[in-house]
Amino acid sequence: MSVLELRSVSKVYGEGPAEVQALRDVDLSVDVGVLVAVMGPSGSGKSTLLTIAGSLEEPSSGQVLVEGAMLSAMSRNDKARLRRHSVGYVFQDFNLLPGLTAAENVSLPLELDGLGSRKARSVGLKALDELGLGDRASRFPDQLSGGERQRVAIARAVVGDRRSSEHRARPAGPRRSRRSWRSAG
Ligand SMILES: Nc1ncnc2c1ncn2[C@@H]1O[C@H](COP(=O)(O)OP(=O)(O)OP(=O)(O)O)[C@@H](O)[C@H]1O
Ligand SMILES: [Mg+2]
Repeated sequence: MSVLELRSVSKVYGEGPAEVQALRDVDLSVDVGVLVAVMGPSGSGKSTLLTIAGSLEEPSSGQVLVEGAMLSAMSRNDKARLRRHSVGYVFQDFNLLPGLTAAENVSLPLELDGLGSRKARSVGLKALDELGLGDRASRFPDQLSGGERQRVAIARAVVGDRRSSEHRARPAGPRRSRRSWRSAG
């Protein structure tokens, strides 16, 4: 199964003389476990593609399927759930919450998803530890280096699959490998 499929996706911003065709009839299918890099000149539509693929923005036409589910048929709540479970973004400016420690930033999505705070914290700490940040867990973002902040953002982006593998029954069939994560810039 494709983790991500785009069917003839187009995106138009603005109207009339201000109209910009950011994407035109993009077809894309990404299989489980495949690493894909989207490359192109500035303004060519990379961020548009990623925000549409992650359900943060709607295409003007065409269909997007994430893990086989068509985004256009999903409610706002369904999409929010999908973003928590299946889509991880590492934003170009990281988007860490300044008032939360590294550990709290990483465990927040788990808590929002209903995991108890003690469990969320331990799963978050494990993710930070794996990225070499075990001893930075109680620091705030402005007390971290740029690379450390980036790794906290990566930990937050990948932490969901650990949660799902521990707390959700998996459907029959091949096991999903690690969640896909993408860099939006
Ligand atoms: N909200 C918007 N309203 C109008 N035009 C937009 C909007 N967002 C993006 N665009 C235009 O759509 C095109 C694609 O933008 P996009 O941000 O996807 O490019 P990009 O490939 O990510 O570029 P970069 O490498 O500079 O980040 C650009 O011409 C941009 O000016
Ligand atoms: Mg961009």
